[in-house]
Amino acid sequence: MIEIIEATDHDLPIIREIAHQTFHVTYLPLQPKEKVDYLFGLMYNPPSLLEQMKNRQRFILAKDETGYLGFASFEINCKNLSVTKIHKIYILPTAQGRGVGKKLIDTITSMACENKNQTLSLNVFRKNPAIEFYKRIGFKIADEINIDVGNGFMMNDYVMEKKLS
Ligand SMILES: CC(C)(COP(=O)(O)OP(=O)(O)OC[C@H]1O[C@@H](n2cnc3c(N)ncnc32)[C@H](O)[C@@H]1OP(=O)(O)O)[C@@H](O)C(=O)NCCC(=O)NCCS
Repeated sequence: MIEIIEATDHDLPIIREIAHQTFHVTYLPLQPKEKVDYLFGLMYNPPSLLEQMKNRQRFILAKDETGYLGFASFEINCKNLSVTKIHKIYILPTAQGRGVGKKLIDTITSMACENKNQTLSLNVFRKNPAIEFYKRIGFKIADEINIDVGNGFMMNDYVMEKKLS
């Protein structure tokens, strides 16, 4: 049975390991290696991960009897609006397509509703097949955004949103 638990700073090595096994597999077919290496280093170096956790991002982990399967991070009342922003969601390649991602988003949805947030929002790379996953669970493309992440690299994303009733 898939269980969702809230992560603490003690779990950051697990989160980093799941990202390590998933990030490059996801993005290397879509973007140059230099950019993928740069983004991974930027977001998943241990001090940066700890900072993100201390700075309003909550992390949840999915596990079953075989071990950890994936994680997500999110921020309630992002920018002091009634918006819950999903910052990250990564499921191990071996565990994808088994409902783990949907279960993580369902958990975030419950927490957003408990906090009376009205919208779920996220950014996704415009070539990422995950767009189809988000559409399948009720998100719509709301905007396009190009973010300068330094070192000459841009993140060319869609903003996707789901209204919560
Ligand atoms: C995208 C991701 C989070 C989805 O999680 P998952 O556990 O694989 O997806 P689920 O099994 O919960 O799928 C839920 C539904 O979405 C559909 N779906 C999932 N991925 C899909 C895809 N790439 N294309 C089309 N449909 C997809 C599933 O078929 C399922 O549909 P159903 O309700 O008809 O059965 C996961 O595949 C992943 O970690 N991908 C790599 C990392 C990534 O891109 N993260 C997003 C960064 S923005």
